[in-house]
Amino acid sequence: MYYNWKQNIDTVELQNVSNLIKNGDIIVFPTETVYGIGANALDTEAVRKIFLAKGRPSDNPLIVHVADKKEIEQIAVIQTAVEQKLIDTFMPGPITIILKKRPIIPDIVSAGLDTVGIRMPSNEIAQKIIKTSQVPIAAPSANISGRPSGTKISDIREELEERVSVIVDGGDSNIGLESTVVKVIDNVPVILRPGKITPEQIEEVIGKVRIDSKVFEKLLDDEKPESPGVKYRHYAPKTKCKLIYSTKENLMIKEINKIIEENKDIVILGFAEHKNKINIEEDRYIEVSSLENVEEYAKNIYTCLRKADKINATLILIEGVENKHLGVAIMNRLLRTCEYDYKEIND
Ligand code: TXA
Ligand code: MG
Repeated sequence: MYYNWKQNIDTVELQNVSNLIKNGDIIVFPTETVYGIGANALDTEAVRKIFLAKGRPSDNPLIVHVADKKEIEQIAVIQTAVEQKLIDTFMPGPITIILKKRPIIPDIVSAGLDTVGIRMPSNEIAQKIIKTSQVPIAAPSANISGRPSGTKISDIREELEERVSVIVDGGDSNIGLESTVVKVIDNVPVILRPGKITPEQIEEVIGKVRIDSKVFEKLLDDEKPESPGVKYRHYAPKTKCKLIYSTKENLMIKEINKIIEENKDIVILGFAEHKNKINIEEDRYIEVSSLENVEEYAKNIYTCLRKADKINATLILIEGVENKHLGVAIMNRLLRTCEYDYKEIND
């Protein structure tokens, strides 16, 4: 089933969606970050359907979505003042806070960990669905495991329509990258996954912040990560990808043209301003955003990766962004998209 709520939320359809959730079915719904595949977080069998639909490894835990801050303490324990401050400051919004879980959250949700990721989306449709269903909703990003997250409804329908009971269309995702995942360790917020809420913003209200080493480094073979998600290939099209970046535009353009000379079967994901300077057919240059516009870049990147994949080239070459503010989250995703095939050109 497909519901179009781009203009307004249909009340009869909203009731249907909530009934589906209460009945243990799974649905696709919008949030401000990316679309999610949701189920009643308190129902083990319903949550199992999410893992099956995505082909997600069972040791990768799900985030639980609530509509009201009062619901948090029913499913998790706020142990520190730092956690409380993060909740007070950034919720509702694009942040997930890892808290000690209460027994009411089934093991399948937390993949056996004693913690659970809690998120309170600001998206109105997401809030309405959670409120009307009257249960917390477990939801990973709406994509087959390993692929780029769903941010555009046509991509999501193509990939998931047969696998879920209903897809709710709320238009393109506003942010386009998944939430910032934070865990407070020894009273310091540690960013396990960067996102729209930046390290700088957290630092401003809390003080010291750490970025988990696995945000930019490859996991070693026998290493146990703080966040199980980093064990797996992620955000990746089927086509091999390569990431390049330079603070000097001309160097980046020169390098791209050099790579194209060596291999013509390439698709470029790049900035609009560079299109005329790169020697490739028009349909092989996909504009992600205008220069320096990281918001637009974040919003478009997954859609562009999917579009590039359809060309079936041997390589997707991606122009990266500066690694600060929202750029931290973009570069984190792209490094993993490219399986760390990254070149920074300095001279
Ligand atoms: O923006 C988002 O967060 C979206 C929307 C739908 O809310 N959801 C999302 O979920 O991105 P998912 O499952 O694709 O990513 C959740 C990430 C995974 O990397 C997972 O390993 C990590 O959060 N995670 C979940 N629970 C955790 C826990 N208890 N401890 C550490 N990491 C956890
Ligand atoms: Mg995901």
